[in-house]
Amino acid sequence: MNLSKYRRETFLVWLMGFSTLTLNAQNLKSPNQVLEIRFRLDKEGRPGFNFYAEGLPILKDARLGFSLVPDVDLSTGFRIDSIRQEEYKGSWNPVWGEQRQILDHHSSMLVYLSKPGQVKDRKLNIEFRLFNDGLGFRYKFPQNGNNGNFIVAEELTLLPLQQDYEVYWMPGDFDSNEYPYTRSRLSRIGALRVGEETGLDYRHLVHDSLIQTPFLLISDQGYYMAIHEAALRHYPAMHLSVDRHHLSLSTSLVPDALGNKAYLEDGDQTPWRVLLYARKAGDLLTNRVILNLNEPSVIENTDFIKPGKFIGIWWEMHIGKSQWPYWDRMGSTHPDQWKPLPNHGANTANVRRHIDFASKHGIPYLLVEGWNKGWESWYGIWKERIFSFTEPYPDFDLDAIHKYAKEKKVKLILHHETSGAVTDYERQLDSSVSLMHRYDYPGIKGGYVGRIIPRGEHHDGQWMVDHYERLAFKLGRQRLTLDLHEPVRPTGLHRTYPNWWTNEAARGNEFNAWSKGNPPEHETILPFTRLLGGPMDYTPGIFQIKMNAYGKDKKEQVHTTLAKQLALYVTLYSPLQMAADLIENYEKMPEPFQFIKDVPTDWDTTVVLGAEPGDYIYLARKGRDSEDWFVGAITDEQERIWEFEPNFLPPNKKYNMFLYRDGDQAHWESNPMDHKIIKKTIRSNELIRVRLAPGGGCAIHFTPAGQKRR
Ligand code: NOJ
Ligand code: CA
Repeated sequence: MNLSKYRRETFLVWLMGFSTLTLNAQNLKSPNQVLEIRFRLDKEGRPGFNFYAEGLPILKDARLGFSLVPDVDLSTGFRIDSIRQEEYKGSWNPVWGEQRQILDHHSSMLVYLSKPGQVKDRKLNIEFRLFNDGLGFRYKFPQNGNNGNFIVAEELTLLPLQQDYEVYWMPGDFDSNEYPYTRSRLSRIGALRVGEETGLDYRHLVHDSLIQTPFLLISDQGYYMAIHEAALRHYPAMHLSVDRHHLSLSTSLVPDALGNKAYLEDGDQTPWRVLLYARKAGDLLTNRVILNLNEPSVIENTDFIKPGKFIGIWWEMHIGKSQWPYWDRMGSTHPDQWKPLPNHGANTANVRRHIDFASKHGIPYLLVEGWNKGWESWYGIWKERIFSFTEPYPDFDLDAIHKYAKEKKVKLILHHETSGAVTDYERQLDSSVSLMHRYDYPGIKGGYVGRIIPRGEHHDGQWMVDHYERLAFKLGRQRLTLDLHEPVRPTGLHRTYPNWWTNEAARGNEFNAWSKGNPPEHETILPFTRLLGGPMDYTPGIFQIKMNAYGKDKKEQVHTTLAKQLALYVTLYSPLQMAADLIENYEKMPEPFQFIKDVPTDWDTTVVLGAEPGDYIYLARKGRDSEDWFVGAITDEQERIWEFEPNFLPPNKKYNMFLYRDGDQAHWESNPMDHKIIKKTIRSNELIRVRLAPGGGCAIHFTPAGQKRR
């Protein structure tokens, strides 16, 4: 093993126990004894387990196994060959993230099974890891396990829950995760009811009881759970099919073009199936089980990955001020007959204007969309050869822009919209990587709007999961980063590929520009669901809340106050974070913009000060390599008065506090831009009291008194 690749992650291995047993059943407890699984084979040789938290049964008679194509049953008839248990305690340092060091303390159990056959015994191993705050388990097909190359017809994991939880869910869709969340009882899930009026053009709802993960469950006893997966690699995404009568969940894998689920061979393993457990909702926000279940970074030298903020030639297209295409096709397929449009956004002069702004305000990155050929006709067309990833439009001067950006020390993030034509994109990848190197671009923002090619494949199927990883690997080797829009939702793979630093993969702020938008509670749900898998490119920072500023008939609006947009920089984590509004709006409102300039995107420590999904989130975070602390507090549509002492600050030390709060009359709908900025000196034991307006929030920056503001 090449140990040098693990340089950035320090392991302190503590092997606490080991046993090899030959029994029909075996129990495993978490290091603090709070969580427990009882594994057993039943009379038919079916593997299964019960799961308990603090003695309470959470899963009873969970089932494990597969059916393979054609007609092979891998769920019954097993015997246990042996069982191995271990305990592990270690810690590691993520390249970037919400905290500097992460503890990995778990007990594990590997169950070696075989199913006697006429000629050979088929082997299947099941690995469990129990942390103090969660369970992970996965299937392993051992080398020489006599399964050879095989096709998974379905994974037969069945999770029988023991109560009708209150849940936050999103409908199952093989191609989109850009839905709002719905709250209901488990037994009342109705996926087909959601979807109209979501503003989503391309939907692929499957059946009424199919939902996506991360899936959040709230018990009547007051504990919280989230179900998701970790390390989704070479396998389709896991959706859950809900039995609304028996309250059980069964895995339903996203199919390929032929209806098969996965193509595997001996030596492969599935992603981890994960169940996070928390006594308090806020503990889910600092739960690191999913990261711990992923492999360390495969990128040896990660110094090219520099967290930071970006502005973009972007929102101006979403609000209709400018356009992505350069050409108006005039209804013709003959380029000779095409005419330039009057308002192409990605033109050299506009790029320079943005470079000037970024440079003046110390923002390291600039996203440019619509720089490349293809936008004149791309949307909803299921074909290849639409986009070029090397040829710019005539008014985008690659050389001049490069020279200017270099002078001003701003890096351009290029947009690669594939329109789902992934085959075509991969064919162009080597040449587009050369272009990125030639012009010193640090990475891409990728996009997968529309139906996938190879035709019949889905965004969340095995073929695409392989594509995303191939891209992350290839760009990582080339010292390039990626931020993907419309990919499968993340599963902690940013530990393994820290250059794949963020994703959209959920309903972002852009929906507020051109649809009914995101309800005020949306951002209070995301950290308990989608963000459990990894950072999100939500694109916060919209100051001009009402879109009628861009056309008097426009009815759309962001469903938050301005102060809440600031707080999102703390509550919605991403190492690459956008300041998404038009730069002219920031120029008009430099005071609140100061918070966006000051807030980091890489943290030393995260402290949850209070949180309830769908209601509110109050977080404090300390910047890496700085003494500065930042607080983000957001609420749903309810007004709240929040009081707290900043006792995360060192005692008896004076701090300058810059507090950005909702104005006294602020309301997300009637008066969203009303805000107030308060500056004062404060100590850790002084009470701070703020009103969060309906749909509002508060952002605070604490910096040691007497120190120059960073
Ligand atoms: C959807 C993405 O989320 C958005 O950021 C992008 O601007 C458009 N697609 C165009 O590619
Ligand atoms: Ca999107």
